[in-house]
Amino acid sequence: MADRTALTAGLLAYVDSLTPEPPALRAVRDETTRMPMLARMVSSAAQARLLALLVATIDARRVLEIGTFTGYSTLAMALSAGPDCVITTCDSVPRWTRIAKRHWDRNGVTGKITLRLGDAGATLAELVATEAEFDLAYIDADKASYPTYYRRCMRLVRPGGLVLLDNTFCLGRVADRTATDAETEAVREVNRLIKADERAQEVVLTIGDGLTIVRRNQDF
Ligand SMILES: C[S@@+](CC[C@H](N)C(=O)[O-])C[C@H]1O[C@@H](n2cnc3c(N)ncnc32)[C@H](O)[C@@H]1O
Repeated sequence: MADRTALTAGLLAYVDSLTPEPPALRAVRDETTRMPMLARMVSSAAQARLLALLVATIDARRVLEIGTFTGYSTLAMALSAGPDCVITTCDSVPRWTRIAKRHWDRNGVTGKITLRLGDAGATLAELVATEAEFDLAYIDADKASYPTYYRRCMRLVRPGGLVLLDNTFCLGRVADRTATDAETEAVREVNRLIKADERAQEVVLTIGDGLTIVRRNQDF
């Protein structure tokens, strides 16, 4: 069946009832939502569920996250990861990561998480210089840097590993020819890079604001 089923409010509520958000994640979302304008920065429950499922499926031991914010997606991955997993997560705003740390502590996963505070571009450059290697990377930070983040993550992720990018629709602007702002152009650029990348086996999921999953092929 090629036609899409329309995502009505009723259908979405039904899906939510099948896969309720775990209370630990709900608590992060609730706290973040109380801060005006910030609620939409948190990954969706479905995205977090997918991240958690992928981390468990590939038994990821080394995870890289770009964009910690209040720690929602980090917590989802940490709760799903095995005891040997280390999640390196990058952000530049201590005000957000203090909230994240509180929730990680409360849920007993702080030992699995290494927070790298500072500009993520610089952190990734350092990780490349030290030949660090990861099983999975999740990119969810400033859109203007997405091409740089993608290039660096494809160097940091092992062959067979995964790179996920959130917001690859840039709120739908990628398909709007009149949108020429820097963020939209950068997201278009990364979408083109992925399409042309011989190392990449990718799928663009139409959930949230677009989630692209790239597998770095073994042959390169
Ligand atoms: C969309 S939020 C991340 C949401 C998070 N993954 C979640 O699910 O809750 C983006 C985060 O990227 C951070 N950020 C933006 N530009 C950055 C940069 N150049 N270096 C490091 N972090 C940055 C922001 O401070 C913000 O916390």
